[in-house]
Amino acid sequence: MNNTVWRCVAGLALAGSATLACADFPEKPVTLVVPFAAGGPSDKIARDLAEALRKPLGQTVIIENAAGAGGTIGSAKVARATPDGYTLLVHHIGMATAPALYRKLGYKVPEDFEPLGLINEAPSVLIGKPTLAANSFAELRQWIASNGGKVNLANAGLGSASHLCGLMFQSALKTNMTPVPYKGTAPAMTDLIGGQVDLMCEQATNAVPQIEGKKVKVYGITSLQRLPLPALKDTATLSESGLKDFNVQVWHGLYAPRGTPPEVLAKLNAALRTALKDAELIKREEALGLTVVADDRLDPAGHKKFLIAEKARWSKVIQDAGEYAD
Ligand code: MLT
Repeated sequence: MNNTVWRCVAGLALAGSATLACADFPEKPVTLVVPFAAGGPSDKIARDLAEALRKPLGQTVIIENAAGAGGTIGSAKVARATPDGYTLLVHHIGMATAPALYRKLGYKVPEDFEPLGLINEAPSVLIGKPTLAANSFAELRQWIASNGGKVNLANAGLGSASHLCGLMFQSALKTNMTPVPYKGTAPAMTDLIGGQVDLMCEQATNAVPQIEGKKVKVYGITSLQRLPLPALKDTATLSESGLKDFNVQVWHGLYAPRGTPPEVLAKLNAALRTALKDAELIKREEALGLTVVADDRLDPAGHKKFLIAEKARWSKVIQDAGEYAD
């Protein structure tokens, strides 16, 4: 047990009150573990959040990328970290999908984590390499139909948002494509731009600058609403384009390891609430199509309830699709 945890535990036991315990937290930099490669959407969100958390926490907030296995390596790392509030996880919908996708997962959801609050909701888009002949979703469908299993689909590993969206896309088209996993969508984007892979679902956060720069082609929005972004003003949802009710909406949350003292959790949640009211952060997120969460999912109990509901929803979809990994 490290010093901070010991002091918190001793404080709780001696004073019988969580108010006195962990009063000095945080006394050193806090680390946000990002379970994907640097330069991708999760990394960007975590870096923006780190900046906004700096003031309310009164400490430096550091990013550590622990990429691989669709986000499960970084998640396992945080589940096993000392529960003192200094090692936190920024993760997306993969928290809810990995338990159904992996037969052997090194952690339990939600049991091994303390949800601290949802950060945002993040729409995704279906994008293609710049040399694809298809210039509309209808043309893309035809191209996929005539190329079948030769079409490849980049993702950030099994359990990532891009993987989940790709699964749903193949199932909606009733076709199989070849998945190409990366450690994050940042390296996958480099290959998509270079034409080494054909298609990818990507969060608007990272896709919009590439669409604006005409480095990739965009074929549809993966959630149910169109996006009020100049780069996507003419882009329909996949549901509107014929894949009825196609809806993959990504979200991101902040987590501490199970057993983190309540006083520390309360401080972290208060800091998250303050950070998400930061005008600069809201402006940056909205410019990329993200919606900062301001409802009861910003509360640890509301976040946990939402996580459990998402896990149940996606478990069924994933089981029905017969997808899993060892
Ligand atoms: C995903 O597809 O899950 C994310 O885009 C991963 C990432 O942030 O790189």
